[in-house]
Amino acid sequence: MKTEHNKKLSVTNTIVKIAKPASYFIFLLLTYTLGYLSHSFSPPSLPPPNFPPPPPPETSSILRFSVIDTTELASFRVTTQCSDPIPPEKIYRELIDRIFNGTSPFTDFPQPHVAEKLLRSKKVRGWGSNGAVFENLIRKVNPRIIVEVGTFLGASAIHMAELTQRLGLKTQIFCIDDFRGWAGFRDDFKNIAMLNGDVLLYHQFLQNVVTFNQTGSVLPVPFSSGSALAKLCEWGVLADLVEIDAGHDFLSAWADINRGFRILRPGGVIFGHDYFTAADNRGVRRAMVDLIAKIHRFKVKIDGQHWVIDSTYIH
Ligand SMILES: C[S@@+](CC[C@H](N)C(=O)[O-])C[C@H]1O[C@@H](n2cnc3c(N)ncnc32)[C@H](O)[C@@H]1O
Repeated sequence: MKTEHNKKLSVTNTIVKIAKPASYFIFLLLTYTLGYLSHSFSPPSLPPPNFPPPPPPETSSILRFSVIDTTELASFRVTTQCSDPIPPEKIYRELIDRIFNGTSPFTDFPQPHVAEKLLRSKKVRGWGSNGAVFENLIRKVNPRIIVEVGTFLGASAIHMAELTQRLGLKTQIFCIDDFRGWAGFRDDFKNIAMLNGDVLLYHQFLQNVVTFNQTGSVLPVPFSSGSALAKLCEWGVLADLVEIDAGHDFLSAWADINRGFRILRPGGVIFGHDYFTAADNRGVRRAMVDLIAKIHRFKVKIDGQHWVIDSTYIH
Protein backbone atom coordinates (compact mmCIF):
# COMPACT_ATOMS: atom_id res chain seq x y z
CA MET A 1 0.00 0.00 0.00
CA LYS A 2 2.79 2.32 1.05
CA THR A 3 4.85 1.25 -1.93
CA GLU A 4 1.83 1.95 -4.15
CA HIS A 5 1.51 5.39 -2.62
CA ASN A 6 5.23 6.12 -2.99
CA LYS A 7 5.04 5.11 -6.66
CA LYS A 8 2.15 7.55 -7.27
CA LEU A 9 4.08 10.28 -5.47
CA SER A 10 7.21 9.76 -7.52
CA VAL A 11 5.13 9.75 -10.79
CA THR A 12 3.48 12.99 -9.73
CA ASN A 13 6.88 14.49 -8.90
CA THR A 14 8.23 13.45 -12.26
CA ILE A 15 5.19 14.97 -14.06
CA VAL A 16 5.61 18.22 -12.10
CA LYS A 17 9.36 18.22 -12.88
CA ILE A 18 8.67 17.78 -16.63
CA ALA A 19 5.58 20.00 -16.73
CA LYS A 20 7.30 23.03 -15.15
CA PRO A 21 9.93 23.64 -17.91
CA ALA A 22 7.39 22.52 -20.55
CA SER A 23 4.87 25.15 -19.38
CA TYR A 24 7.63 27.76 -19.43
CA PHE A 25 8.50 26.65 -22.93
CA ILE A 26 4.83 26.77 -24.09
CA PHE A 27 4.39 30.16 -22.44
CA LEU A 28 7.47 31.50 -24.22
CA LEU A 29 6.31 30.01 -27.52
CA LEU A 30 2.87 31.61 -27.15
CA THR A 31 4.33 34.99 -26.24
CA TYR A 32 6.66 34.89 -29.23
CA THR A 33 3.87 33.77 -31.60
CA LEU A 34 1.49 36.47 -30.36
CA GLY A 35 4.19 39.10 -30.61
CA TYR A 36 5.08 38.03 -34.13
CA LEU A 37 1.42 37.95 -35.23
CA SER A 38 0.58 41.30 -33.69
CA HIS A 39 3.64 42.88 -35.38
CA SER A 40 2.84 41.42 -38.82
CA PHE A 41 -0.77 42.50 -38.82
CA SER A 42 -0.55 45.91 -37.17
CA PRO A 43 -1.47 48.82 -39.58
CA PRO A 44 1.42 50.68 -41.25
CA SER A 45 2.83 53.40 -39.02
CA LEU A 46 0.91 56.70 -39.32
CA PRO A 47 2.39 60.20 -39.23
CA PRO A 48 1.99 62.11 -35.98
CA PRO A 49 -1.60 63.34 -35.68
CA ASN A 50 -0.78 67.02 -36.26
CA PHE A 51 1.50 66.52 -39.23
CA PRO A 52 0.01 68.48 -42.18
CA PRO A 53 -0.45 66.63 -45.44
CA PRO A 54 2.27 67.49 -48.00
CA PRO A 55 1.18 70.31 -50.34
CA PRO A 56 0.74 69.61 -54.05
CA PRO A 57 4.15 69.77 -55.76
CA GLU A 58 3.48 72.78 -58.01
CA THR A 59 2.60 75.07 -55.09
CA SER A 60 4.86 73.66 -52.40
CA SER A 61 7.42 76.48 -52.34
CA ILE A 62 4.68 79.13 -52.53
CA LEU A 63 3.12 77.64 -49.42
CA ARG A 64 6.47 77.36 -47.71
CA PHE A 65 7.18 81.05 -48.23
CA SER A 66 3.68 82.14 -47.33
CA VAL A 67 3.99 80.67 -43.85
CA ILE A 68 7.12 82.70 -43.07
CA ASP A 69 6.39 84.92 -40.12
CA THR A 70 7.06 88.57 -41.00
CA THR A 71 9.44 88.81 -38.03
CA GLU A 72 11.65 86.22 -39.77
CA LEU A 73 12.13 88.44 -42.80
CA ALA A 74 14.80 90.72 -41.32
CA SER A 75 17.63 89.07 -43.21
CA PHE A 76 15.79 89.58 -46.51
CA ARG A 77 15.60 93.35 -46.04
CA VAL A 78 17.82 95.54 -48.19
CA THR A 79 18.67 98.77 -46.41
CA THR A 80 21.23 100.36 -48.73
CA GLN A 81 20.92 104.13 -48.73
CA CYS A 82 21.55 105.85 -52.06
CA SER A 83 23.57 109.06 -52.38
CA ASP A 84 21.73 112.37 -52.32
CA PRO A 85 19.76 112.63 -55.56
CA ILE A 86 21.27 114.63 -58.39
CA PRO A 87 18.86 116.95 -60.29
CA PRO A 88 16.96 115.08 -63.03
CA GLU A 89 18.19 117.46 -65.75
CA LYS A 90 21.81 116.53 -64.94
CA ILE A 91 21.37 112.76 -65.06
CA TYR A 92 21.75 112.28 -68.81
CA ARG A 93 25.13 114.10 -68.92
CA GLU A 94 26.26 112.33 -65.76
CA LEU A 95 25.62 108.92 -67.31
CA ILE A 96 27.22 109.82 -70.64
CA ASP A 97 30.33 110.87 -68.73
CA ARG A 98 30.43 108.01 -66.27
CA ILE A 99 29.43 105.15 -68.59
CA PHE A 100 30.47 106.28 -72.07
CA ASN A 101 33.55 108.33 -71.33
CA GLY A 102 31.79 111.51 -72.42
CA THR A 103 30.66 110.38 -75.90
CA SER A 104 27.10 109.32 -76.71
CA PRO A 105 26.85 105.71 -77.94
CA PHE A 106 24.89 107.08 -80.91
CA THR A 107 27.85 109.12 -82.13
CA ASP A 108 29.19 107.62 -85.38
CA PHE A 109 26.66 104.83 -85.16
CA PRO A 110 26.60 102.38 -86.84
CA GLN A 111 30.21 101.49 -87.45
CA PRO A 112 30.79 100.12 -90.99
CA HIS A 113 31.58 96.57 -89.86
CA VAL A 114 28.16 96.15 -88.21
CA ALA A 115 26.05 98.51 -90.34
CA GLU A 116 25.13 95.96 -93.00
CA LYS A 117 24.18 93.36 -90.41
CA LEU A 118 21.46 95.38 -88.70
CA LEU A 119 17.73 95.33 -89.39
CA ARG A 120 15.97 98.61 -90.04
CA SER A 121 12.42 97.60 -89.44
CA LYS A 122 9.58 99.55 -87.85
CA LYS A 123 8.44 96.31 -86.24
CA VAL A 124 10.35 95.61 -83.03
CA ARG A 125 9.55 92.40 -81.22
CA GLY A 126 8.80 92.51 -77.50
CA TRP A 127 6.39 91.04 -74.95
CA GLY A 128 3.38 93.11 -73.91
CA SER A 129 5.56 96.09 -74.76
CA ASN A 130 2.60 98.28 -75.76
CA GLY A 131 0.33 97.30 -72.86
CA ALA A 132 -2.07 99.86 -71.42
CA VAL A 133 -0.09 99.93 -68.17
CA PHE A 134 2.58 102.15 -69.74
CA GLU A 135 0.13 104.90 -70.65
CA ASN A 136 -1.77 104.52 -67.36
CA LEU A 137 1.38 105.04 -65.32
CA ILE A 138 2.97 107.71 -67.48
CA ARG A 139 -0.24 109.79 -67.30
CA LYS A 140 -0.36 109.28 -63.55
CA VAL A 141 3.30 110.00 -62.71
CA ASN A 142 4.37 112.45 -65.48
CA PRO A 143 7.88 111.00 -65.19
CA ARG A 144 11.00 113.04 -65.82
CA ILE A 145 13.21 109.95 -65.42
CA ILE A 146 12.31 106.33 -66.28
CA VAL A 147 14.64 103.40 -65.61
CA GLU A 148 13.81 100.22 -67.47
CA VAL A 149 15.48 97.02 -66.24
CA GLY A 150 15.35 94.54 -69.14
CA THR A 151 15.05 96.19 -72.56
CA PHE A 152 16.02 93.62 -75.20
CA LEU A 153 15.37 95.21 -78.61
CA GLY A 154 13.85 98.35 -77.08
CA ALA A 155 10.16 97.75 -77.88
CA SER A 156 8.80 98.91 -74.50
CA ALA A 157 11.37 101.72 -74.14
CA ILE A 158 10.52 103.11 -77.56
CA HIS A 159 6.81 102.82 -76.76
CA MET A 160 7.30 104.80 -73.53
CA ALA A 161 9.40 107.42 -75.37
CA GLU A 162 6.64 107.92 -77.93
CA LEU A 163 3.98 108.13 -75.21
CA THR A 164 5.86 110.76 -73.21
CA GLN A 165 6.38 112.87 -76.32
CA ARG A 166 2.72 112.61 -77.23
CA LEU A 167 1.88 113.84 -73.74
CA GLY A 168 4.31 116.76 -74.04
CA LEU A 169 6.69 115.45 -71.33
CA LYS A 170 10.46 115.85 -71.36
CA THR A 171 11.35 112.35 -70.22
CA GLN A 172 14.67 110.52 -70.26
CA ILE A 173 14.54 106.72 -70.41
CA PHE A 174 17.57 104.76 -69.23
CA CYS A 175 17.64 101.16 -70.33
CA ILE A 176 19.56 98.69 -68.17
CA ASP A 177 20.33 95.48 -70.05
CA ASP A 178 23.46 93.41 -70.53
CA PHE A 179 22.17 92.89 -74.08
CA ARG A 180 23.07 89.21 -73.90
CA GLY A 181 19.46 87.97 -74.05
CA TRP A 182 19.36 84.52 -72.48
CA ALA A 183 20.80 81.12 -73.35
CA GLY A 184 18.99 79.83 -76.42
CA PHE A 185 17.11 83.03 -77.28
CA ARG A 186 18.34 82.94 -80.86
CA ASP A 187 16.15 79.90 -81.48
CA ASP A 188 13.35 82.47 -81.75
CA PHE A 189 15.41 85.43 -83.01
CA LYS A 190 17.52 84.01 -85.80
CA ASN A 191 17.47 87.30 -87.69
CA ILE A 192 19.59 89.07 -85.07
CA ALA A 193 23.11 89.02 -86.48
CA MET A 194 26.20 87.54 -84.92
CA LEU A 195 29.79 88.65 -85.23
CA ASN A 196 32.51 86.23 -84.14
CA GLY A 197 29.95 84.36 -82.07
CA ASP A 198 28.80 87.55 -80.38
CA VAL A 199 25.12 88.33 -80.89
CA LEU A 200 24.61 91.94 -81.97
CA LEU A 201 21.73 92.63 -79.60
CA TYR A 202 23.22 95.89 -78.29
CA HIS A 203 23.82 97.21 -81.78
CA GLN A 204 20.38 96.15 -82.94
CA PHE A 205 18.86 97.97 -79.94
CA LEU A 206 20.81 101.15 -80.85
CA GLN A 207 19.64 100.76 -84.45
CA ASN A 208 16.00 100.47 -83.35
CA VAL A 209 16.29 103.64 -81.26
CA VAL A 210 17.76 105.39 -84.30
CA THR A 211 15.04 104.03 -86.60
CA PHE A 212 12.36 105.45 -84.27
CA ASN A 213 14.21 108.75 -83.93
CA GLN A 214 14.47 108.45 -80.15
CA THR A 215 18.22 108.95 -79.62
CA GLY A 216 17.57 112.08 -77.57
CA SER A 217 15.41 110.35 -75.00
CA VAL A 218 16.49 106.67 -74.81
CA LEU A 219 19.94 105.76 -73.51
CA PRO A 220 21.32 102.27 -72.84
CA VAL A 221 23.03 101.34 -69.58
CA PRO A 222 24.69 98.18 -70.94
CA PHE A 223 25.52 96.21 -67.80
CA SER A 224 24.04 93.50 -65.61
CA SER A 225 21.00 94.70 -63.69
CA GLY A 226 22.60 94.18 -60.28
CA SER A 227 25.72 96.22 -60.90
CA ALA A 228 23.92 98.94 -62.88
CA LEU A 229 21.19 99.50 -60.28
CA ALA A 230 23.78 99.54 -57.48
CA LYS A 231 25.78 102.19 -59.36
CA LEU A 232 22.75 104.37 -60.11
CA CYS A 233 21.98 104.27 -56.38
CA GLU A 234 25.58 105.18 -55.53
CA TRP A 235 25.60 108.03 -58.09
CA GLY A 236 22.35 109.49 -56.75
CA VAL A 237 20.31 108.69 -59.88
CA LEU A 238 16.66 108.33 -58.87
CA ALA A 239 13.71 107.59 -61.15
CA ASP A 240 10.02 108.49 -61.09
CA LEU A 241 9.13 105.27 -62.84
CA VAL A 242 11.08 102.00 -62.59
CA GLU A 243 10.11 99.08 -64.80
CA ILE A 244 11.43 95.59 -63.99
CA ASP A 245 11.46 93.13 -66.90
CA ALA A 246 14.81 91.28 -66.87
CA GLY A 247 15.25 87.78 -65.38
CA HIS A 248 11.94 86.16 -64.41
CA ASP A 249 13.29 83.55 -62.00
CA PHE A 250 12.67 84.18 -58.31
CA LEU A 251 16.19 85.23 -57.35
CA SER A 252 16.60 87.64 -60.29
CA ALA A 253 13.18 89.19 -59.76
CA TRP A 254 13.80 89.48 -56.01
CA ALA A 255 17.19 91.19 -56.52
CA ASP A 256 16.02 93.52 -59.30
CA ILE A 257 12.87 94.61 -57.48
CA ASN A 258 14.78 95.32 -54.27
CA ARG A 259 17.48 97.29 -56.06
CA GLY A 260 14.83 99.03 -58.18
CA PHE A 261 13.12 100.19 -54.98
CA ARG A 262 16.34 101.86 -53.84
CA ILE A 263 16.37 104.23 -56.81
CA LEU A 264 12.66 105.08 -56.75
CA ARG A 265 11.95 108.74 -56.04
CA PRO A 266 9.45 109.25 -53.20
CA GLY A 267 6.00 109.24 -54.77
CA GLY A 268 7.24 107.25 -57.79
CA VAL A 269 5.91 103.97 -59.12
CA ILE A 270 7.72 100.68 -59.63
CA PHE A 271 6.15 98.07 -61.87
CA GLY A 272 7.12 94.90 -63.64
CA HIS A 273 6.13 92.51 -66.35
CA ASP A 274 5.12 88.85 -66.27
CA TYR A 275 3.40 88.69 -62.91
CA PHE A 276 1.61 85.60 -64.14
CA THR A 277 4.48 83.84 -65.85
CA ALA A 278 4.95 80.22 -64.78
CA ALA A 279 8.76 80.47 -65.03
CA ASP A 280 10.61 79.18 -61.95
CA ASN A 281 7.40 78.18 -60.19
CA ARG A 282 5.96 81.68 -60.67
CA GLY A 283 9.22 83.31 -59.62
CA VAL A 284 8.12 86.92 -60.18
CA ARG A 285 4.92 86.42 -58.24
CA ARG A 286 6.68 84.65 -55.37
CA ALA A 287 9.20 87.47 -55.11
CA MET A 288 6.40 90.04 -55.08
CA VAL A 289 3.63 88.48 -53.06
CA ASP A 290 5.49 86.25 -50.68
CA LEU A 291 8.47 88.38 -49.78
CA ILE A 292 8.41 91.97 -50.95
CA ALA A 293 4.77 92.65 -50.18
CA LYS A 294 5.18 91.06 -46.77
CA ILE A 295 8.32 92.97 -45.90
CA HIS A 296 6.89 96.33 -46.90
CA ARG A 297 3.30 95.52 -45.92
CA PHE A 298 1.62 96.68 -49.09
CA LYS A 299 -0.71 95.24 -51.63
CA VAL A 300 0.37 94.60 -55.18
CA LYS A 301 -1.91 96.01 -57.87
CA ILE A 302 -2.26 94.24 -61.18
CA ASP A 303 -2.57 96.00 -64.54
CA GLY A 304 -2.77 93.49 -67.40
CA GLN A 305 0.31 91.28 -67.16
CA HIS A 306 2.12 93.77 -64.89
CA TRP A 307 2.37 94.19 -61.14
CA VAL A 308 2.37 97.78 -59.90
CA ILE A 309 3.45 99.37 -56.61
CA ASP A 310 2.80 103.02 -55.99
CA SER A 311 5.31 104.28 -53.41
CA THR A 312 2.84 106.95 -52.29
CA TYR A 313 1.02 104.20 -50.43
CA ILE A 314 4.06 102.54 -48.83
CA HIS A 315 4.30 103.21 -45.12
C1 LIG B 1 11.92 89.97 -71.55
S1 LIG B 1 13.28 90.81 -72.15
C2 LIG B 1 12.83 92.50 -72.00
C3 LIG B 1 11.70 92.87 -72.92
C4 LIG B 1 11.43 94.36 -73.05
N1 LIG B 1 11.08 94.97 -71.79
C5 LIG B 1 10.29 94.53 -74.01
O1 LIG B 1 9.15 94.70 -73.60
O2 LIG B 1 10.53 94.47 -75.20
C6 LIG B 1 14.44 90.55 -70.90
C7 LIG B 1 15.79 91.25 -71.10
O3 LIG B 1 16.45 91.24 -69.84
C8 LIG B 1 17.82 91.11 -70.06
N2 LIG B 1 18.40 90.55 -68.85
C9 LIG B 1 18.10 89.38 -68.23
N3 LIG B 1 18.81 89.23 -67.11
C10 LIG B 1 19.58 90.34 -67.00
C11 LIG B 1 20.53 90.79 -66.04
N4 LIG B 1 20.81 90.08 -64.95
N5 LIG B 1 21.12 91.96 -66.25
C12 LIG B 1 20.84 92.72 -67.34
N6 LIG B 1 19.94 92.35 -68.28
C13 LIG B 1 19.32 91.18 -68.10
C14 LIG B 1 17.97 90.21 -71.27
O4 LIG B 1 19.18 90.48 -71.95
C15 LIG B 1 16.73 90.62 -72.08
O5 LIG B 1 17.10 91.56 -73.06
